[in-house]
Amino acid sequence: MTSEPLTKRADHPLTAPGHEWWRSAVIYQVYPRSFADSDGDGIGDLPGITARLPHLVELGVDALWLSPFYRSPQADAGYDVSDYRAVDPVFGDLADADALVARAHELGLRVIVDIVPNHTSDEHDWFQAALAAGPGSEQRARYLFRDGLGEHGELPPNRWRSVFGGPAWTRVAEADGSPGQWYLHLFDVKQPDLDWTNPQVHEEFVSVLRFWLDHGVDGFRIDVAHGLVKAEGLPDWEHEPEMLEGTDSRFSRPPYWDQPGVHDIYREWHQVVAQYAGDRVLVAEAWVTPAARIADYVRPDELHQSFNFPYLVTAWEGPALREVITESLEAMGSVGAPATWVLSNHDVLRHVTRFGFEAGTALPNGIGLADSQPNHEVGLRRARAATMLMLALPGSCYLYQGEELGLPEHTTLPDDVRQDPTWARSSHEHRGRDGCRVPMPWAGDSPSFGFGPSHNAWLPQPSSWAGLALDAQRTVPGSTYETYRGALRLRREHRLGEGELSWVDGYPEQVVALRNDDVLVLANTGRTTVPLPDGAQPLLTSVPVDLSAGLPADVTVWLPAR
Ligand code: NOJ
Repeated sequence: MTSEPLTKRADHPLTAPGHEWWRSAVIYQVYPRSFADSDGDGIGDLPGITARLPHLVELGVDALWLSPFYRSPQADAGYDVSDYRAVDPVFGDLADADALVARAHELGLRVIVDIVPNHTSDEHDWFQAALAAGPGSEQRARYLFRDGLGEHGELPPNRWRSVFGGPAWTRVAEADGSPGQWYLHLFDVKQPDLDWTNPQVHEEFVSVLRFWLDHGVDGFRIDVAHGLVKAEGLPDWEHEPEMLEGTDSRFSRPPYWDQPGVHDIYREWHQVVAQYAGDRVLVAEAWVTPAARIADYVRPDELHQSFNFPYLVTAWEGPALREVITESLEAMGSVGAPATWVLSNHDVLRHVTRFGFEAGTALPNGIGLADSQPNHEVGLRRARAATMLMLALPGSCYLYQGEELGLPEHTTLPDDVRQDPTWARSSHEHRGRDGCRVPMPWAGDSPSFGFGPSHNAWLPQPSSWAGLALDAQRTVPGSTYETYRGALRLRREHRLGEGELSWVDGYPEQVVALRNDDVLVLANTGRTTVPLPDGAQPLLTSVPVDLSAGLPADVTVWLPAR
């Protein structure tokens, strides 16, 4: 017995208007600092990425998304941009960016780049001009400068808190050295928020979009897409913001997330991108719940995709997974957008590590030596099963560099090497995100495991990663890498990204049982082995296992559907 298909709403006039590539694409996130270092300075760079593009072809993805490589003081690893039209010297130059895009296109890969419109760096010309020009100036009106409260303006304009910890306001000194106005920064003190009610801000970002579109990029991932517009009057809000939770449905919406005005910006951007040939794509990083609110970002005249963070945070449990998958497909289907799926990125604990804790464990933002440690073996087995479930779903999937090697979080990084501003701004309460950003191991016997030509790596790699390096897994049957490759090949062959999902009855509640066109997918999130259909011949299993007694715990299998 199967349910009605959940994906294609034939009755919806907006569904599937031609099959644009991004509707079913698998998109691989490259974190430039940590992918490949061509010059041995210990920081990854654009030539390093270009040289490694064949890896993405062999793996079998359709596109890559690059985290920021623009000119930046690197206070937040490049999410603090001081010049949106230049490449930071640490990563190369504009010619290197052009060469990367050209090579990717030659290899049949699309390229999505990041755009950071909520804030600039404090070293951006605009912010420097705003500091120099003083209160009431046109230059200050591009940011959110306000007078302080209290008799002498000594108190911040409201109680908003920064996502990285501490107050979201910093007071500046005016040109004569006297204590002056305050500016808003939802993130680090070096990331002042722009004022999106100012038409100059709109014009500037349209121009930046055009700049990179003219350089041939295939789309943009929009940083903090739900944060650009703040409620009028900046009304007070005393709760701690959680980047990883975004809009917490238990409370009313914070006055800085998911305000209705953001949608006007995306309608404007939609028009810009639509003028370019080649199905360019706009992807929202919007930490918003529930799925119905995410769907607002991908209405037909707005963005094309939005990351599915409710899916990322779902535990490895059958009922919860079925619910989030159903909700996602229905919500996105209602506006004719593809669902997206993601398990890891550069801001969260890698999924091998998350699944190494019991479901329901409250996980910290970053793990250190003194914290309780995950069960790596269980985590890896569940992570592989979770990935094979994800890759069987219709829509578009995002992979984060290194997950194809089964990389865990680095959970024993010494605190003195941490670079995430979260660590300092939270007064060493939250360790932050360095553990998922450790440079890639390509070759187990080489210095820095082949990350670069020297021993340098901007964060130390655990010695155990020698055995996880690409060269230790490539061509090894049943390795994590070969399992990812096999799943990606079958996903393409069976056109699962374009398929229709129906739930299959008759399995225990802890088994996620679905059919996507001609493939039956069974993911056993329970503790016991469950029977398989008679004569089942697997197309692929998430780990090498003997299926003669049934489907063991924490394994996903793909079978031909009958
Ligand atoms: C989201 C990015 O993914 C994260 O890395 C960054 O710190 C914040 N936005 C601020 O730009």
